[in-house]
Amino acid sequence: MCGIVGCVAEEPVAEILLEGLKRVEYRGYDSVGMATISGGKFGVRKGVGRVAEVEERLQMSRLPGDAGMAHSRWATHGGVTDQNAHPHASCRESVAVIHNGIIENYVPLKKALSSRGHRFRSETDTEVIAHIIEDEYKRLRDPVKATLAGTKKLKGQYAMAVMFQDRPDVMIGARKDAPLIVGVGDGKMFLASDVLAFIGHTDRTIFLDNLEVVELTKDRVRIFGPQGKEVRRKPTQVAWELSDVSKSDFAHYTLKEINEQPKTVLTASVQDPAKLEAFAKAIRKAKSLYITASGTSYHAGLLMKFRLNKEAKIRVDTVVAGELKEHAGFLGKGSVVVAFSQSGETADVMEAVKEAKKHGARVFSIVNAAGSTLARESDGVLLLNCGPEVGVAATKSFTAQVVVANLVVDAVLGKRRSNGFKELSEAVAETLKCDEQIRDLVYEYSSRPDFYFVARGYESPVAMEGALKLKELSYIHAEGMPASELKHGTLALIEKGTPVVVLNPSGSLHADTLSNAEELRARGADVIGVSDVKDEVYRHFVRVPKVQPKFAPIVESIPLQLLAYHMSVAKRNDPDYPRNLAKSVTVK
Ligand code: AGP
Repeated sequence: MCGIVGCVAEEPVAEILLEGLKRVEYRGYDSVGMATISGGKFGVRKGVGRVAEVEERLQMSRLPGDAGMAHSRWATHGGVTDQNAHPHASCRESVAVIHNGIIENYVPLKKALSSRGHRFRSETDTEVIAHIIEDEYKRLRDPVKATLAGTKKLKGQYAMAVMFQDRPDVMIGARKDAPLIVGVGDGKMFLASDVLAFIGHTDRTIFLDNLEVVELTKDRVRIFGPQGKEVRRKPTQVAWELSDVSKSDFAHYTLKEINEQPKTVLTASVQDPAKLEAFAKAIRKAKSLYITASGTSYHAGLLMKFRLNKEAKIRVDTVVAGELKEHAGFLGKGSVVVAFSQSGETADVMEAVKEAKKHGARVFSIVNAAGSTLARESDGVLLLNCGPEVGVAATKSFTAQVVVANLVVDAVLGKRRSNGFKELSEAVAETLKCDEQIRDLVYEYSSRPDFYFVARGYESPVAMEGALKLKELSYIHAEGMPASELKHGTLALIEKGTPVVVLNPSGSLHADTLSNAEELRARGADVIGVSDVKDEVYRHFVRVPKVQPKFAPIVESIPLQLLAYHMSVAKRNDPDYPRNLAKSVTVK
């Protein structure tokens, strides 16, 4: 959600900011804006639309000035209008701000400010920040002190960049429960919600802690704790490169990321044995154990639960992150919560982690973004090592999560080594060859209003993941469920020609799943089998290579991801940026 990019440099920054804005587009947004300072005045250009559209209309990149900030807004408070887009300036235009998060007490703050003569131009919660800091700056005459004092009045979450009209050399950043990262360049310093915003300029980053405030000038970064005391912190190097965030020859990031999986299942499998063992030990010793995550990551968590229950005989529940609070009765000292998150910034996951910690539980996480809030607040972390994922739909991060989850379960089971990743990588490459066949399916079924995905046992979460992927990319209604559940209600929805994808690898559940496929066919469904064994019940059959059962969800996911992607393209949607969704869901 909302993206922040700020830069103070020894050269004009508008082009740099525009490039940064494009790199945070994937976070999801409805409007964009930019502010720079030149000649002692703010220049602000902002409006509703995609970065390219607003740039064409308003020429943000022509704004003069060596310091500036840009923002992509995902509306929460106040409609999607030009006026509500960020940046927001105070009434005297002495302070401008961009913000990611929600100011929960903005209504009383706005009332109090209005009664003191402040005039508001937008309906946003953010605008109060500019007015509050303006007052504090008048009193304190110091950008850091004014921001610290101002933020103390705010309740809620924020990551913000603040600029002062009479201090064009300085930009201030502040954060609480929302990500804000500093990029340390040569002669230019950055503030961003994501390293991708500045990765082409520097790979040296500083992750700010909650309630810290940072002051950037073109050649210096100073960090201050909540009481105004300076904190010393060295930059760390991020492993991601600029080439990781290009589309290469692919039409979309999503397609590129799907095709990267033969490589990413391998990179995900390279984990520090000591970290794995610490993770496994915590799981073995946990008095109570939960896995928590949202969306696709939740499906990876369900797969981990299955193996822990069945093979390790460990009792564990996988709970959607936004609901973990409701299970707090089972959390206490000695509990362990395993959190899955690609971004490491999902608000629901962070809330769940906060709740778990409040009850004395330890948190172990499986995360893609090193340095993310979740990674930093966990007692143990395993990284996915699958590179940045730009497409809003999680693809390679899901299969990487399944790889890492399997490594953890193997470690819990006392297996010193997990192997077979080379064969897995080859099997994923082989499966990707089904692309043409999937396009044919899309051609046949793109006008169907509903799709169903069913499976049994370990594959059930994959059915749910297939449905989620199709919904978010194609906007077709889809449901994924255990095949055994069909007869308890959903079968009533099956009509002649309803497409039902049946995931059915060879193994102990194969025959039962085939019976369900028969039941579906008998009611007119077009059964699309995804398996290593063909059967005449399938109207269409997508062969996937036979792999170790624990890896089957990985190869089965590939045709489902391709189905969702090609369906999206066929329907003329943008697969990288599906409507109403954000890559990193940083609000509750
Ligand atoms: C997946 O395709 C989704 N876009 C979404 O469900 C996502 O997995 C969810 O928001 C969780 O994100 P996270 O892994 O970054 O925490």
